[in-house]
Amino acid sequence: PKEFSFAARLIAWQKSQGRHDLPWQGTGDAYRIWLSEIMLQQTQVATVIPYFRRFLAEFPTVTALAQAPLNAVLERWAGLGYYARARHLHRCAQQVAAAYGGHFPETPAELAALPGIGRSTAAAIAVFAFGTRAAILDGNVKRVLARYFGIEGFPGSAPVERRLWALAESLLPDADLEAYTQGLMDLGATVCRRSRPVCENCPVRPECVAFRKGRQVDLPTPRPR
Ligand code: ADE
Repeated sequence: PKEFSFAARLIAWQKSQGRHDLPWQGTGDAYRIWLSEIMLQQTQVATVIPYFRRFLAEFPTVTALAQAPLNAVLERWAGLGYYARARHLHRCAQQVAAAYGGHFPETPAELAALPGIGRSTAAAIAVFAFGTRAAILDGNVKRVLARYFGIEGFPGSAPVERRLWALAESLLPDADLEAYTQGLMDLGATVCRRSRPVCENCPVRPECVAFRKGRQVDLPTPRPR
């Protein structure tokens, strides 16, 4: 049924059409993966790439970042916006240096206890850096799942969010977690866009409730007002 084909289709699509050459991919380096995930939280890939490179050149390790003055970090962040992210980033680096000897912890629970790392970002880091089997659910993924399963209700409300987390967990494949997770992110960013989704290019379109009913523009349900 549709729960099984979702992951298989997404993995095949990511392997053939997805991005494989981003500067933080294929490194297995938790520091690079964490840094990229924080930068990507509210900023698009194309904008992040030059910032990511400059940041790494100036702060090559999490310990170097921890020891840098906050001002130097904020200077390197300038232009990315949402400066609370940079302050949390610096505090997180200091905690990883102090509490974990400069090595990121591997479990989603320990990662999520660090500053600036929520449940979804913790899962993304655990998947990409440590190959852990964990579910992500950021704004893009909420949109993908709300459309695919035809879920009504504002995804930011507690009951809808609980349901989406349960679905995200239930969809996880047994293998290829990295391709699956990256595929989900890429699908939400490039195909299942908020406005003008490109359904012709979607690997899971055959079983997408929103597509079958022509309700892509109605889902996900907007914030009530
Ligand atoms: N958005 C958040 N994380 C991402 C990633 N690893 N690749 C592309 N877009 C993302």
